[in-house]
Amino acid sequence: MVQEGLYLESPREDLDWSSLRFSYTKCPSLVISDIDISDGADGAQWSAPRAIPHDPLKLEPSAGALNYGQTIFEGIKAFRHDDGSIHMFRIDENAKRLQRSAERILIPQVPEEIFVRAVKMCCVWNSSYVPPYDSGGALYLRPLVVATEPYLGVRSSKVFRLVVYATPVGPFFSKPEGLAVRLVTGFHRSYPNGVGSTKMGGNYAPCMQSMAEARQSGYDLVLYLDAKGRGLVEESTAANFFALVDGVLRTPSTHRKTILDGITCDSICYIARHVLGMKVVDDEDLPVELVRTAEQAFFTGTAVIVSPVKRIGHEADSEMAVICKSLDLAQELKVILTDIQFGRREAPEGWLTQV
Ligand code: PLP
Ligand code: COI
Repeated sequence: MVQEGLYLESPREDLDWSSLRFSYTKCPSLVISDIDISDGADGAQWSAPRAIPHDPLKLEPSAGALNYGQTIFEGIKAFRHDDGSIHMFRIDENAKRLQRSAERILIPQVPEEIFVRAVKMCCVWNSSYVPPYDSGGALYLRPLVVATEPYLGVRSSKVFRLVVYATPVGPFFSKPEGLAVRLVTGFHRSYPNGVGSTKMGGNYAPCMQSMAEARQSGYDLVLYLDAKGRGLVEESTAANFFALVDGVLRTPSTHRKTILDGITCDSICYIARHVLGMKVVDDEDLPVELVRTAEQAFFTGTAVIVSPVKRIGHEADSEMAVICKSLDLAQELKVILTDIQFGRREAPEGWLTQV
């Protein structure tokens, strides 16, 4: 198959695909596009995406991204099907979410067409790093938009670069027995009218302390609560949360804009409703009191896919100790989702874009 003047390659033979984890492997090519709005945003356009050999980004120390955190990103997976073809999952949703993040922190929006072209090019130029079909792995694509202009006072940059890099990935967690989750009460990831619903770099650094403390106490993952102290469960650092309560699948509503609108979360709601015929509630708050009675729970995300929870413990004491009775629903949903992604089950309209 020919794309952008190149053939899609088979998986490299010098990589041990069976030991892939969610970790970084450098791929040969990056794709970049630039915009300069020094003469005004009207009329300024992102340049045509172009592939370049992988090279560290050269940024001035005074670049806006480094000093004031004006940077946003996305995470997308591309899957090799049994016939060797490569397909990106719900990339149009990533394009729209990047635009929403951009709008919130004054980054010029990347048109969907440029975004999709850039990510596709990155797949093509790194196609020998798309894992083999039977490895169960994927090519993880990371489009970043960074403020590159050098300046001093706090203001929005006038120059930005879109960079797409790729890395082959396997499972994020290897815990078939289910995750141990810490309910965090001493820190809030997000707050009303803040930026919690965007995928900006600045949302992740503040979570690192609570994550490290949870890991030191034997937990795999954290679960944050709402900042107003209403006892509402929100999400983890990089994954959405679901609980099965009295046979109803619940994930907290994102209407307060404190939770990222997960594309996997949306896909799982669709599958639970339309494939499994379940009742799903995704437009209500999720009080901790309800989670206390959960029969099952799990996290969703591009990286974590669908990861079942075994127990949820409280930061301060053992009061909130939920022990999930089963991991079955998460496992069933994960099989359906990955069957769609790998082409073993028909995908809903528009979910897969062939490279
Ligand atoms: N929540 C946060 C804060 C995330 O960083 C992610 C990962 O992208 C998710 C949820 C899951 O979103 P998605 O399913 O679109 O990957
Ligand atoms: C993703 O799931 O794509 C993410 O961005 C999670 C990542 C921060 C580990």
